[in-house]
Formats: sequence, C-alpha cells, structure tokens
Amino acid sequence: MLAQQKAIVQATVPALQQHGETITKVFYQTLFEENPALLNIFNPANQQSGGQSRSLAASILAYAANIDRLDQLGGMVSRITHKHASLEVQPEHYPIVGDHLLRAIRTVLGEAATPEILDAWGAAYQQLATIMIGAEKQLYTEGGAQPGGWSGFQPLVVERKVVESETITSFHLASPSGQPLPSFLPGQYLAVKAHVADAPFQQIRQYSLSQVSNGKTYRISVKRETAPLHIAAANNGLISNHLHADVHEGDTILAHVPQGDFVLREGSRPVVLLSGGVGITPAICMLQHLTLNSTDRRVLFVHATTQRSHHSFRDETRSLVEVHPDARALVFYEKVTAADNLGHDYDLTGRIDAASLRPYLPQEPADFYYCGPPGFMSAVESVLDALNIPLADRYSEAFAPDPSFATEMARA
Ligand SMILES: Cc1cc2nc3c(=O)[nH]c(=O)nc-3n(C[C@H](O)[C@H](O)[C@H](O)COP(=O)(O)OP(=O)(O)OC[C@H]3O[C@@H](n4cnc5c(N)ncnc54)[C@H](O)[C@@H]3O)c2cc1C
Ligand code: HEM
Repeated sequence: MLAQQKAIVQATVPALQQHGETITKVFYQTLFEENPALLNIFNPANQQSGGQSRSLAASILAYAANIDRLDQLGGMVSRITHKHASLEVQPEHYPIVGDHLLRAIRTVLGEAATPEILDAWGAAYQQLATIMIGAEKQLYTEGGAQPGGWSGFQPLVVERKVVESETITSFHLASPSGQPLPSFLPGQYLAVKAHVADAPFQQIRQYSLSQVSNGKTYRISVKRETAPLHIAAANNGLISNHLHADVHEGDTILAHVPQGDFVLREGSRPVVLLSGGVGITPAICMLQHLTLNSTDRRVLFVHATTQRSHHSFRDETRSLVEVHPDARALVFYEKVTAADNLGHDYDLTGRIDAASLRPYLPQEPADFYYCGPPGFMSAVESVLDALNIPLADRYSEAFAPDPSFATEMARA
C-alpha cells in the first residue's frame, strides 16, 4: 500500500466508524442477493441479531486504525482466520466480499466516497485479504497434514450420546474407519455441518471440545437452544435441536478438523477458569488438561449456572479437582432449592462478583480464561476490572460473533 493510501484510510476511520454498521448491513444484503450460495456458510441468526455486522465492522475499523502497525492485529487476525478455517472460507471468496464491501461504502457514504477514498480502501482490503488468505492456507495445510487429519468436512460416527443436564447433551465421536483423530489443544472447537430437513441451506456451527485430546474420540457437549418465549418455536436453534433430536448413536455427523485460538497457555502461572452455563465446555477440557499435565499449577475453576438441573459435569468437575493437588472448584447457583447440597452441588449462591471471588484468587499473577453467554461475559469483564486484572492476563471466547475486538486490540 502507498503511504498516501494509508493516510486516506486512517483519515476516513471516523466516517466509517459513524456508518460502520450500516455499511456492513448493506454489504450483507447485496452479498447474499447476488451470491445466495454463501447462505450455506453464514448463520442467519447472527444476521438477525446484528452480531455479525458489528463484529465485521469492529474488525475492519481496528484494522484501518492500525494500518501502520499491523503487528498490533495479531490476536484479531488469528481469531477470525481460525473461525474462517472452520467454515472453509476460500481465497476465491475474498474478491467477492471485497467488491461488495466497496460497493456498500460507496452506497452509504455517497459523494463523500471519492475515487481516491475507494481506491485507498480497495488497496487496504487487498492487503488484509492477503494476510488472511496466507494464515488460512497455513491452517488448512496443518489440518490436512497432521496424523489422522483431513481437509473439508468428514463424517464422524456418534459412538455415545450422554445427557449431561436438562439442556446439554454430549456426543462422543470417532472415525468410522477406526483411524486416529488429530490432536487438538484444550479450548479448541470442532465445526459441525448439517443440512436440516426443510431448511433452505446447510449450516455450520462450532462446538468446543469438552474432553482432552486422546487420539481416538472427540467429545462435544451441545446445549439445546430455544427461542425466547415470545418468539415462535420455529425459531428454536437450528443445529443444536437437530443434534439433540435427530442424531442418534451410530449416526454420522460431518466435522472439520479442530480449530480455535482460545487455548490454554503453557507455563507455571496459576490458572483461573470462569464459565457460565454452556461456556463450561472449553473450561472442563482445560481443567482435565491441567489435572493430567500441570499438577504444579494452582487452578481455580469457577462455574456459574442458574440451577441444579442445568448444572453439567458436576461429578466430573469434583473428581478432577480432587485429583489435582492444588485445584479448587467454586460453583455458583442463581436459584437454590432445599434439595441442593452445599459443598457438593454448589458452593455459593447468586452471580459471580468480585467480593465472592477475591478470597479464593491466587496472590501471584495468573491467567484468566472466561467463556459463557453475552451477559456473563460482560459481568466477568466488570469483575476482572474491579479486581485490577490486567487485560494481558485475560483470554476469552464468545459463543457468537466476537464482540471483544476492542479488548483484543487493547491487549495487543
Ligand atoms: C467458538 C465457539 C464455540 C462454541 N461452543 C459451543 C459448545 O461447546 N456448546 C454449545 O452448545 N454451543 C457452542 N457454541 C454455540 C454454537 O456454535 C451454536 O451457535 C449454538 O449451538 C446455536 O446454534 P443453533 O443452530 O442451534 O441456533 P441458531 O439457529 O444459530 O440460533 C441461535 C439462537 O437464536 C435464536 N433465534 C433464531 N432465530 C430467531 C429469531 N427469528 N428471533 C429470535 N431468536 C431467534 C435461536 O432460538 C437460538 O437461541 C459455540 C460457538 C462458538 C463460536
Ligand atoms: C478481509 C476480509 C474479512 C474480514 C475482515 C472478515 C471478518 C470477519 C469477522 C470479524 C468475523 C467474526 C469472527 C468471530 O466472531 O469470531 C467473521 C466471520 C465470518 N466470515 Fe469473515 N471476514 C473477511 C472475509 C470473509 C470472506 C471472504 C468470507 C467468505 C465468504 C467470510 C465469511 C465469514 C463467515 C461465514 C463468518 C461466520 C459468520 C457467522 O457466524 O454467520 N469472511 N469474518
């Protein structure tokens, strides 16, 4: 990119910031009108909620603001490219997306989008696309090259289906031919592709691997997602309900090799794992890994759930912390009944807050990992702020289009 083009891109950040979400909404509208096949890889619920538009706008603005310091973008590019790789985004998609993005900028900014501005943004997009295509190529090569690896989506057979709670069921998956499965890091996810009967398009969803890599089986644990009460049941979560209702032991599902950059950092620092609801899936995998491999690291496993009937992996959590010489679990229930057993089912009542956590936190600097629904994520961020936990010590995964690119940028 020319220095003059970079200067134009940086100068137009405020205008794009003001109109960022409108631009991305216009972008998606024309993109899907002219390329309906792309509806097989984009999630309509993320379009409906606006989450994907916000995430795309935030990432493009972060990129534009840092166009002179691309090394600052490491975390963001890695998060996006792992997600893209799990969806099989290909180099030939990039010119299509770039064309619609520039057209959307022109439509929304009108005459303010001069030929110089469009030319500079075209060059900026091309530069980012080149970085992403390179990173994705590397992920595809690694996925295919590792022992047991494959490219694209391959069938895995459901060996066991285990009910973990009223809403969460685990699927234990293996290769139909008995081949070993590729290894993965604790915190990574498996993308699953399905074409649900009567749905107009096939869809892909990511599920965190909830059991450590063992070379033979993968475990994913899926929450059945229902629409809010005032919305018709026809809008219940498409793939999670399909997996719960239609996929049985002995059936196969299509899966991608594991991806994801929300992974446990090795080292000797204490680890604090905070999860809300189904966000327990990467956390339980990390806890297993620490129990098996890092008995010298202090571990605090904090889990918040609404009530006993929604509490998954209760016994597994208790056994893991018992085996680890320096681990402790703290379980918060929002609603407690007389049948719930303090110290066995749960440890604290209500929601996670700084005052309840403080007495249990390691004294020395620690790594904090957190994952859960959007309300839980913002509550934990406030708690970590109140506890003065530096941004550089925080790692998070959202089970939705990532709202946290601002945090990522600050960390970088
Ligand atoms: C990295 C990552 C890891 C993940 N790990 C896990 C995991 O371990 N376990 C897990 O269970 N999930 C996990 N998820 C979430 C998972 O990928 C899916 O998003 C989830 O299963 C919902 O998909 P779905 O197809 O069932 O719902 P979708 O069809 O995508 O719908 C999503 C939500 O929107 C609601 N909805 C749909 N249409 C409307 C409408 N018109 N109005 C109002 N509401 C509507 C649905 O009821 C549902 O609650 C993860 C996500 C990511 C990104
Ligand atoms: C430079 C160009 C691009 C940028 C900056 C970009 C940015 C993003 C971001 C920020 C996300 C959300 C990631 C997350 O939440 O974890 C995302 C997801 C996604 N991207 Fe891209 N992307 C680009 C190009 C593409 C291309 C070329 C395609 C292929 C058509 C594509 C398809 C997708 C899909 C399908 C998702 C998931 C959407 C969903 O959940 O519905 N992207 N991208």
